[in-house]
Amino acid sequence: MLADALPLVTPFSLYIVPTVRCNFRCNYCAQSLDRDVLAKKYPHMVSDNGFITMELFRKVLVQAKSFPSRFKMVSIFGQGEPLLHPDLPEMVAEVRDAGIAERIEFITNGSLLTPDLSRRLIDAGLTNIRVSLQGLNSKKYHEICGVELDFEKIKENIAYYYAYGREKDARIFVKIMDVALEENEEEMFYSLFDSISDRMYIERVKPVYDGIKYEEALSNITMDRYGVLHTPRKVCPLPFYMLNVWPDGDVSPCDAIYKPYILGNCNSTTLLEMWRSGGFRSFLAQNLRYGKNSIPICTPCCAPDDVSHPADVLDDDAKRILPIFDVNFR
Ligand SMILES: C[S@@+](CC[C@H](N)C(=O)[O-])C[C@H]1O[C@@H](n2cnc3c(N)ncnc32)[C@H](O)[C@@H]1O
Ligand code: SF4
Ligand code: SF4
Repeated sequence: MLADALPLVTPFSLYIVPTVRCNFRCNYCAQSLDRDVLAKKYPHMVSDNGFITMELFRKVLVQAKSFPSRFKMVSIFGQGEPLLHPDLPEMVAEVRDAGIAERIEFITNGSLLTPDLSRRLIDAGLTNIRVSLQGLNSKKYHEICGVELDFEKIKENIAYYYAYGREKDARIFVKIMDVALEENEEEMFYSLFDSISDRMYIERVKPVYDGIKYEEALSNITMDRYGVLHTPRKVCPLPFYMLNVWPDGDVSPCDAIYKPYILGNCNSTTLLEMWRSGGFRSFLAQNLRYGKNSIPICTPCCAPDDVSHPADVLDDDAKRILPIFDVNFR
């Protein structure tokens, strides 16, 4: 249970966002918003050139080494397509060599995953890759993401990764969005990928991005994207166990597109200072005491109800653990 492990001396996961750019425009994702709407709602998604420099990446790794223990996971992705970053294999190798992570992973749309790139990533030490499929044929890809691509090629590339990865203990998970499947295609999905992936699953589209029209309302969702039913959650657990570094060095307390709180910037403050800072503790205390909806930027975010693991839910323990974080608590 997360509640019994708090406060964490080292966050469970560190997300380093290689880029906020994407070559797809999936119709349920913020990347499909008109650029001016995206710029207005999420200015950090369009700022600068959108790619982290290796100089900053290395600075983040040096800072990450000063936490007392290793991260369970270092994820090199965020709200864009990680394979667009030309230095991704080098980044993976440097995370491995830094010895800071039990697992190194990212999620990708898989469109750029050639055999050559697969070998470089696996040889660099990538332990897990998740490929998000957007259909079982090229027509569906066009419909959902507005791209022309050859679905058979994606499948071949996944098969290559799986075969090469087996020799090196690198895993590949394949998932597909429910909206990308036609009726009766579930079985086809499982049979197509059963022998060429380590795990397969279907995810539900959730109202993740303010600005996109979804069938489901933004608030009070009671089923997560993995299909688990639950009562709506008040406290957001994510900032208690993760840190997220954006390409410009800003650090937010979750991997959501929103920046509910900026702990600092890696160019001027270290990750450890940020993680231990009083300001961040007050942010966590507000979340525990009044719920995430008391934080204006968190209000439209459905992450606590969408991606939280049941063992991480803090609602029932919020009062008990509040004194750990509330510096003014008596
Ligand atoms: C934002 S993408 C970034 C990584 C990469 N571009 C990809 O698509 O895998 C990360 C994951 O979020 C999922 N995602 C995006 N919008 C979503 C939504 N509205 N509901 C559920 N999952 C969503 C994508 O399918 C993908 O698996
Ligand atoms: S879900 Fe991934 S691939 Fe699709 S538009 Fe969003 S970031 Fe790009
Ligand atoms: S509610 Fe969303 S934006 Fe706020 S801390 Fe949680 S994940 Fe981040």
